[in-house]
Amino acid sequence: MFVAGDKTLNLKRWFALISIVAVVAWFGYDAMQKKRDDALVRDLMDARQQQSDNETKAPARSEPPSNMVVNRIPGNNWFVGKFEDGGGVEIPFRPGDAPEKSVDLTPVHDNPGFVGPEQCQECHREKYQSFLATAHYKTSRPVNETTIDGSFEPGSNTFQTSDPNVSFEMIRKDDEFLQRVHFYNWSFEVPMEIIMGSSKMAQTYLYWHKDGLYQHNVTHITDGNQWINSPGYIDGDAAYARPIPQRCMECHLTYFDFRGEKNHYTPGTLILGVTCERCHGPAKGHVEFHRENQNATKAVGITNPADLDRQVQMQICGQCHGGSRELKGNALSFRPGDRLEDHYHPPDDELDAKNSVHTSNQLNRLSQSPCFLQSQMTCIDCHDPHHSERGDRKLFSSRCMTCHENESDCGFFPQQGVDFAENCVDCHMPQRPTENLRLKSIEGDVFPPLRDHYIRVDETATMRFMSSLSNGD
Ligand code: HEC
Ligand code: HEC
Ligand code: HEC
Ligand code: HEC
Ligand code: HEC
Ligand code: HEC
Ligand code: HEC
Repeated sequence: MFVAGDKTLNLKRWFALISIVAVVAWFGYDAMQKKRDDALVRDLMDARQQQSDNETKAPARSEPPSNMVVNRIPGNNWFVGKFEDGGGVEIPFRPGDAPEKSVDLTPVHDNPGFVGPEQCQECHREKYQSFLATAHYKTSRPVNETTIDGSFEPGSNTFQTSDPNVSFEMIRKDDEFLQRVHFYNWSFEVPMEIIMGSSKMAQTYLYWHKDGLYQHNVTHITDGNQWINSPGYIDGDAAYARPIPQRCMECHLTYFDFRGEKNHYTPGTLILGVTCERCHGPAKGHVEFHRENQNATKAVGITNPADLDRQVQMQICGQCHGGSRELKGNALSFRPGDRLEDHYHPPDDELDAKNSVHTSNQLNRLSQSPCFLQSQMTCIDCHDPHHSERGDRKLFSSRCMTCHENESDCGFFPQQGVDFAENCVDCHMPQRPTENLRLKSIEGDVFPPLRDHYIRVDETATMRFMSSLSNGD
């Protein structure tokens, strides 16, 4: 875990991280996009601020005081504010009530055979164990003491917005973790139930109301160990009505039963994490066969991506790493071996990942590289999906050497002060934004610094790398 003071906050990186998550938040979100005159509202509110109580301890539920505006708003939500058209609270449950999760709902669809990664453990122990450390496994998880980041200790568990009357406290009650909202002299609590994000950049939190899945107002950013507004949210509001759509679930979960409406799912059916079966196919048949036929050594009922044609193999990854593609039919209908174009519309512009949420179109960028065009390269020449190898530049560089044999294959070799074998990637796959990775958010354009998978000679990156050496960072 991050210890304050052990690293100074790199402002540029911090800003970039916020920007990335800004796009996360923007995606699929409409409830907050109503234009509001925030400045005017804030002035009015400041004038009244003196009158407002400053309550810090509050019961879990209470009705909003009678001097607040309470309205139904589109999307089956509620608005609570001090002024009709000002900032305020947006929630899908009745003010004064708490969110409640539906139990024992019957799924709308039959599960096509997704069983979850725990079922693989008995026969594929090593793969299962190492897989637990990967970003794929961690990208959605239940909230508990070991998974949740951020401080719940009084003093560092608060997030104060620029509006003195709107703040949040992150609190723990036994095994429950909650966000407590303070809006003037009213307050209420919302439980944090599901984490989305492996913590590489951030964790954002989801909760259930009936069979609806919604995002919390406050997100945790890993760099700097801070509580912040879920990006895209308007500072000074308390928004708990942002729905989590299917496409978001499809990139961050293994399985869910969709109940036919925007963000409605059968709670008991979720398989969290991007796990084995999203790359190998639903494995119920495989598991049952091998449990009954303990001596069988040839696999039955499962896909090994290595056996597929390389374009088809890479399309497995392309479900989630191929830019933002709208569904043609039902979510989760893609199976390893299928073609992306049978399940998704192409991204707006194959060369421009502008709509790719907050990931770049690695599939497309890589496919333009001479390395790719003049070899049989696939994603797994560099990535082992069963291990976490994040940040290990030397290891990734060794993967370049499987084809390039020797560092002297680099036309730039040798250069004083450059250890080529340690790092092929910062010059040839720079981690920086490019015009082709430009993303739009409601707060303007943002440029997430992901590794550009278009591998090529890049003079700007080389110059930057050389000057970082002489600057000593
Ligand atoms: C009861 C034992 C058993 C269970 C449980 C099991 N497998 Fe297997 N699996 C096997 C055997 C046996 C093979 C064939 C030998 C090998 O490749 O290891 C195999 C092979 C595989 C292969 C390689 C297929 C190939 O053609 O090369 C994959 C992929 C796979 N299993 C995935 C899974 C996943 C995912 C799960 C959990 C959802 C799982 N297995 C659960 C026994 C099992
Ligand atoms: C097209 C697939 C796709 C969709 C849709 C999508 N994401 Fe992501 N998301 C990703 C990928 C891939 C990354 C990692 C970025 C990277 O490394 O390329 C990511 C990163 C994140 C992160 C940061 C994780 C971390 O710590 O590294 C969060 C939080 C997140 N997504 C939440 C969401 C939410 C919430 C939604 C829906 C509103 C959503 N995502 C929709 C693919 C997707
Ligand atoms: C992100 C996609 C992805 C995920 C998630 C994933 N795999 Fe794989 N798996 C692959 C690919 C690609 C291959 C073929 C290349 C290779 O061997 O690494 C493979 C190969 C395999 C093989 C056969 C090769 C061997 O080394 O025996 C088994 C068994 C296997 N995976 C099991 C699992 C299990 C069990 C899980 C979950 C704990 C899992 N995989 C998760 C993509 C994935
Ligand atoms: C079902 C969606 C999905 C599929 C399929 C998928 N990924 Fe991912 N992948 C994600 C998401 C989401 C993240 C971001 C996880 C996070 O940080 O929260 C991610 C992260 C990654 C990362 C970054 C890991 C890290 O620790 O920084 C790599 C590398 C990666 N994926 C490669 C692959 C490859 C290769 C394949 C195909 C074999 C693949 N992925 C298939 C959704 C997917
Ligand atoms: C699967 C084999 C393979 C792997 C792995 C591989 N390359 Fe290549 N690469 C090639 C081939 C083939 C060419 C084209 C012939 C040549 O220039 O050597 C190439 C060309 C290049 C070029 C010249 C591009 C141009 O514009 O002419 C660069 C730079 C490069 N590779 C860097 C890398 C780096 C860095 C890595 C690791 C991140 C890597 N390669 C991994 C096969 C590979
Ligand atoms: C030639 C090697 C190479 C190939 C091939 C490759 N990658 Fe990567 N990829 C990298 C390197 C290097 C990183 C940076 C890893 C790190 O620092 O943790 C990376 C990072 C990523 C990340 C994390 C986000 C980021 O930008 O840091 C994702 C997601 C990813 N790759 C997906 C893919 C997918 C999907 C494919 C196939 C379409 C693929 N990669 C093919 C070398 C490769
Ligand atoms: C400091 C930046 C830097 C590093 C580190 C670096 N390269 Fe290069 N590389 C370059 C530049 C610049 C060129 C173009 C040189 C020229 O054309 O004179 C180049 C050219 C290449 C080429 C094309 C060869 C040619 O001349 O056509 C390949 C292949 C290559 N590099 C591979 C690698 C590999 C593999 C590594 C890691 C062992 C690596 N590079 C490390 C900057 C770098």
